[in-house]
Amino acid sequence: MSKADKINEFMSSYTADSAKYESLSAEEILGMMIKNFSPKIAFASSFGAEDVVIIDMMHKIQGDNARVFTLDTGRLNPETYDVMDKIRSKYSIRIETMFPDSTEVQKMVTERGINLMYNSIEERKLCCEIRKVHPLRRMLDDLDAWITGLRRDQTFTRSNVKKVELDASNNNIIKVNPLVEWSNDMVWEYIKNNNIPYNSLHDKGYPSIGCAPCTRAIQPGEDLRAGRWWWENDFHKECGLHWNK
Ligand code: ADX
Ligand code: SF4
Repeated sequence: MSKADKINEFMSSYTADSAKYESLSAEEILGMMIKNFSPKIAFASSFGAEDVVIIDMMHKIQGDNARVFTLDTGRLNPETYDVMDKIRSKYSIRIETMFPDSTEVQKMVTERGINLMYNSIEERKLCCEIRKVHPLRRMLDDLDAWITGLRRDQTFTRSNVKKVELDASNNNIIKVNPLVEWSNDMVWEYIKNNNIPYNSLHDKGYPSIGCAPCTRAIQPGEDLRAGRWWWENDFHKECGLHWNK
């Protein structure tokens, strides 16, 4: 059966009974999707708080067969590499690391400078496109489904995200978002209860972590994503992985 047929067949049965499926817990959704699609299903991890929770859950389901990939933009914080290593050794999992295309990066940086993101929203989006979105697309080409750590209350652009959906931005593969209903507090309770390594920047006022030049600590009372692309007034605050408008 072709990839498209397999995806369409699954999505028709899912949609026919979506209320039942959407009421499953994070672990149940993960278990069901992994059973249906492994090894053509993988988790996109930036090693933020939600992401280490999902890795722990996947490891409990699949052991070291869990497929985890990361988009290493080349502009990550050292603390992100530290937690990546801690997770790698705690769970003995392979982390499939996707780098941007070096020719694309060389051209962009030569023409516009290493910190082009501060010039304009268009140049910031170009950097995200080359460093994150293109490597993501390359990874997804070989998958039937990808898993993310999106939560509905992170930002209004995510308020309608379903646990399982067709990803129109990414060639109609399946997107699985097991933590959509979770609150920030639930994420941290799970991390503490399961003694999971996490990014030390979270203890320094960084609730949401992306690349180093584009993330800063927030002040008390600020929105949890206020530290992302903080110099932009555009209220979308997305990089194109989950929102391509
Ligand atoms: S972003 O689009 O604004 O950067 P965010 O940081 O909120 O996304 O993370 C949401 C989810 O996107 C993460 O839980 C993870 O599944 C995925 N993600 C974000 N950045 C990366 C990355 N660098 N590598 C892999 N997955 C990522
Ligand atoms: Fe480039 Fe910043 Fe986007 Fe990272 S978050 S890819 S550094 S613009």
